[in-house]
Amino acid sequence: MIRFDHVSAAYAAQTPVVRDADFTIEDGEFVAFVGTNGAGKSTTMRLCNGLLKATEGRVLVDGTPTTELRTSELARRVGFLFQNPDRQICCKTVREELAFGFRAQGALTDEARARVDATIERFGFDAAAEPYLLNRGTRQLLALASIVVMEPDTIILDEPTTGLDFRECEKVMGVIADLHARGTTVVMVCHDMEVVADYAERVIVMASGEVVASGPTFEVLRRRDVLERAGLVAPQVVDVSMRLVERHPELAATPIARANTLDEMTAAIEAYVAEAKEDPR
Ligand SMILES: Nc1ncnc2c1ncn2[C@@H]1O[C@H](COP(=O)(O)OP(=O)(O)OP(=O)(O)O)[C@@H](O)[C@H]1O
Ligand SMILES: [Mg+2]
Repeated sequence: MIRFDHVSAAYAAQTPVVRDADFTIEDGEFVAFVGTNGAGKSTTMRLCNGLLKATEGRVLVDGTPTTELRTSELARRVGFLFQNPDRQICCKTVREELAFGFRAQGALTDEARARVDATIERFGFDAAAEPYLLNRGTRQLLALASIVVMEPDTIILDEPTTGLDFRECEKVMGVIADLHARGTTVVMVCHDMEVVADYAERVIVMASGEVVASGPTFEVLRRRDVLERAGLVAPQVVDVSMRLVERHPELAATPIARANTLDEMTAAIEAYVAEAKEDPR
């Protein structure tokens, strides 16, 4: 569990860039942080894993303030994927990269070696490949795998799909969804609202350093006032469904207004259009 207890934070004693953030992320949740550039999302993520200290309030991981947890203990509980994966890659081969976290914590035990092998197999990596020569998507997967291999309870992902093409994005999100299905808590910063709609259970919206909304994904995506304040745009299907419901209030009780996945919403709109074609009024 991650708890932000009225947290503010600043860089180099400047004015706070996160102000009075107060929220809880329960074990097993999949939460997405959204907001425009500079809203304070990455700063909030850095506070979660102790890379940055709060100037006011407390960040607690499983009930203990991050200031009282040793870095290694915090790293064991909370894995962190940086906004730029290349900041995370430092070894000469894929195998060494995956073993890096274990070596940093002490020694590469037999169990750790087995986990590295299993991860290579699971991700389909070439163990001897040189990380910097891999394509962007594979480098992102490697950075993700180097966290997954440590089996943290929580993973924090700062824009895991930015710069990836559709296929690579699907691959990365597939791995993340799989981790979540196995019980890992997932906290993800993401600019792609379709990815957010497809994967996150809850959305926390940030604007100018403040948390301005938090709630089930589709409830938040339907809040035009919140999205406007935060400079965000809902996925197009959600926008179409809301326009339809505004023009035809009788649709408010149908899946067009109530669906909680993009697929369900699209299917409901398609069915509505098909019916309207058959029965033009
Ligand atoms: N290392 C730093 N030193 C000083 N100021 C910083 C630093 N990192 C971020 N900031 C400032 O803090 C504010 C919040 O930045 P942050 O990176 O948390 O935003 P963000 O929501 O992650 O934005 P983006 O979507 O562009 O990644 C911005 O005004 C930014 O310029
Ligand atoms: Mg950021």
